[in-house]
Amino acid sequence: MKPLAAAVRASLVFVGLLWSAPGFAAPTALGFADARAGISLDGAWHVIVDPYDNGLLDYRNQPRPNGYFLDAPPRDKTDLVEYDFSRSPTLEVPGDWNTQRPELLYYEGTVWYERRFDAPAAPKGGRAFVQFGAAAQRATVWLNGRRLGSHEGGFTPFAFEVTGQLRPRGNSLVVMVNNTRRASALPAMNTDWWNYGGLTRGVRLVETPGVFIRSARLQCARGDPRHLTAVVDLDGARAPAAVSIAVPELGKRVAFRTDAAGHGSFSFEAAPALWSPEAPKLYDVTVTSGEDAVQDRIGFRTIETAGTEIRLNGRSIFLRGISLHEEALGRGGRATSRADAEALLGLAKELGCNFVRLAHYPHDEEMIRAADRMGLLVWSELPVYWTIAWSDPGTLADARAQLGEEIARDANRASVILWSVGNETPVGEARNRFLRTLVADARAADPTRLLTAALEHHPAGAHAERIDDPLGADLDVLGLNEYVGWYDGLPEKCDTLTWSAAYAKPIVVSEFGAGAKAGLHADARTRFSEEYQADLYRRQLAMLRKVPAVRGMSPWILVDFRSPRRPLPGVQDGWNRKGLVSNDGRKKQAFGVLQEFYRELSASSR
Ligand code: GCU
Repeated sequence: MKPLAAAVRASLVFVGLLWSAPGFAAPTALGFADARAGISLDGAWHVIVDPYDNGLLDYRNQPRPNGYFLDAPPRDKTDLVEYDFSRSPTLEVPGDWNTQRPELLYYEGTVWYERRFDAPAAPKGGRAFVQFGAAAQRATVWLNGRRLGSHEGGFTPFAFEVTGQLRPRGNSLVVMVNNTRRASALPAMNTDWWNYGGLTRGVRLVETPGVFIRSARLQCARGDPRHLTAVVDLDGARAPAAVSIAVPELGKRVAFRTDAAGHGSFSFEAAPALWSPEAPKLYDVTVTSGEDAVQDRIGFRTIETAGTEIRLNGRSIFLRGISLHEEALGRGGRATSRADAEALLGLAKELGCNFVRLAHYPHDEEMIRAADRMGLLVWSELPVYWTIAWSDPGTLADARAQLGEEIARDANRASVILWSVGNETPVGEARNRFLRTLVADARAADPTRLLTAALEHHPAGAHAERIDDPLGADLDVLGLNEYVGWYDGLPEKCDTLTWSAAYAKPIVVSEFGAGAKAGLHADARTRFSEEYQADLYRRQLAMLRKVPAVRGMSPWILVDFRSPRRPLPGVQDGWNRKGLVSNDGRKKQAFGVLQEFYRELSASSR
């Protein structure tokens, strides 16, 4: 093999290893990070756009000892250094790079981020961590020239301990972020959304006591709202430790001890006002152990199925939903703030929703906390989308890690009722094994919530479709993406089509829809007219209301979103136009059609 090819192969191996370096502790995020003492590292970061990974590899594609990660100025005037973060441009963090600079809109590759910060002296015995809300799609982090580790996956939080590595002034934090799509990643090469890159969520220096509360959950048992269970994990414990949990408004303060490894659980009776979309009651909860105390605002509710019913707090409920991507209304790009989340979820509430499907990846924690406050039930989803490397052990390991990070982050969020393990994944043995592993992981990590996925369906005779995906046997709720009237025939096909399922379980129609350019008006036979979209919604809703097992829906989609798969000039221009609202906030006729349907539904089920 020619030397160069060998070098290229070696470098691909090296860069691959870089992203999933063995021997580094999994960079597990801390619970309550935003509520803890520390410093926000959000704001302007210096950046170097590096499509050749030049900051990491030399011309032979071998690792550089003096890469950009050193963040070191020339030793003297003879020293050759060809980068200088302090004089490089900046990008805002949190935020994707694609919408901050026009030349980066479709950029896929590496961007180096750097910022300096001063660190107050930590209290004696205290510990420090650098926590990232997310980095799309993978990141490697250096502090003061020392590599801390890597994280794979663009939508879940991670952290590295930096205790004893901080200096009082001028700490250098360098992050190599890469969003290049890879066949072995999640998602893989092919998606119908744009592959934003960057430090898309907040970054924070977090300070903790020597022994601290890494996670604390307080949840109702699956079918009993008066039976609360606390599960607490301490970090740094060397002996059993006392823990107390206070819920003042319930007049509750319970105390228990952890085992020597810092793990403890405790159940007790209480009578909380139950959280619901109509009454999203949240309680102040304080967890204390030793020198550490953390606060959270938690709602209590139960969610279960019974036959084809979904029951919230013991009552059958219909999920009046809508799907949405994590794109900021009006501005475009990744939604990153509480205001972004409330703008999007406010539209869903205006539509008459009690439910949102946050597609196709875990959204920002701000979105989930806004759903908690505003009273919207949530379908949360891993980016196991379309075709994945089902037989690649590394891909499965990434999926399992990201599922764990998603559940750990949102376990206390009453709004989250459904964990979805996949979207429209072609049935096959390797895919079934992969997804069943995720189902088992989710049930072990969180027995209080329901499991779902957007499943496959097939024709079952003339004018009949059937959900027959083998994965349906493993799930609580059958997700169904169907495009009758758009990809599958014309809207009138809805008028005679019937639906069935191989499982007596609730069906949530997780997608149906049609494209429409806001302001494009014509007859209802003209594709991309608002009239076509509105007519399709009317016929879809008439079809689905005849299916008793349909106990929810989240039509595709609330707002138009960026997708390079949608080039039609003057109509799509790089946007998927199935939104009920245009990306600049204009409601289409179909918004009113669905809103009226939900209004009637809400009145009838009252
Ligand atoms: C699929 C897929 C969506 C996609 C939609 C569409 O169902 O799940 O991500 O955007 O179809 O074609 O618009």
